[in-house]
Amino acid sequence: MFDRIVPRYDLVNSLMSFGMDRRWRVLAARLAVKPGDRALDVGTGTGYLARELRHAGASPVFAVDFSTRMLAAAEERVADGKADIAWLRADAQRLPFPDGSFDCVTNAFLLRNLSDLTSGLREMARVLKPGGRLVCLDITQPPGGPFGVAYRLYFERLVPLVGGLIGSDREAYRYLPSSLKGFPDAGSLSDLLSDVGLTDVRMRLLGGGSVALHRAVKR
Ligand SMILES: C[S@@+](CC[C@H](N)C(=O)[O-])C[C@H]1O[C@@H](n2cnc3c(N)ncnc32)[C@H](O)[C@@H]1O
Repeated sequence: MFDRIVPRYDLVNSLMSFGMDRRWRVLAARLAVKPGDRALDVGTGTGYLARELRHAGASPVFAVDFSTRMLAAAEERVADGKADIAWLRADAQRLPFPDGSFDCVTNAFLLRNLSDLTSGLREMARVLKPGGRLVCLDITQPPGGPFGVAYRLYFERLVPLVGGLIGSDREAYRYLPSSLKGFPDAGSLSDLLSDVGLTDVRMRLLGGGSVALHRAVKR
C-alpha cells in the first residue's frame, strides 16, 4: 500500500494537514536532536523528517523504511547527495542495528501502522544509547467537544474522498482513519513509553489536539 501512494504522498499530506505537517516534523527534529547526534528515523517514507534531523545538526543520520519506493523517493529528493543520510530497507520491528547505537531515534506517522506497537517501541528503545531520546509524532484520538466531532467527520469522511481523488488510491486513504481505531490516545501512549522502560516522558498536542508529539529518554 505504501509503495502505491508514493507519487502524491507529500501533496496529499500537505492538503490533509492544511500545510502543517512539515512544521510538525521540524518541531520533532528539534526536540530529538543535539548537534553531532547519531540519529535514526524509522518509517522515514519520503525522508522529510530524516532531512530535518540533518538540518538540526545530527550526523550521521540513518533512515529506514520497508517500502522500496518510499526509500527511492526519499533518495531522489536529495539527489545531490549532500544530505549525508544512509537510506536502508528494514522492518521497524527488527532494526538491523546493535543495542545502544543512536543518540536519538524518531518516527513520524509510523506507530499506527505497526502490527505490534509495544514491541516496535521496545525495538526503538533497544537501539538507543542510555540517555538517548525517542521522539514520536503521530495522529492521535481527537479531543471531545465540537472540534472533535468536526475532526472525526473530516478524518473519516473527507480524507478518504480527497485521498482517493488526489492520491488516486481510495483504499489507502480509507485505511488511514481505520488505523486510528484501537490506537492508544496520547496519555495512554505516554504510559506505554514508560512501560517499555523509557523515562522522563513528555507530550505536546498539535493541530488542535489531533496530533501528538512525544519525547522519552532511555535510562
Ligand atoms: C504514513 S507513512 C509516514 C512516512 C514519514 N515518516 C512521514 O513523516 O511522512 C508510514 C511509513 O512507515 C513505513 N512503515 C510502516 N510500517 C513499517 C514497518 N514495520 N517497518 C518499516 N517501515 C514501515 C511505510 O512504508 C511508510 O513509508
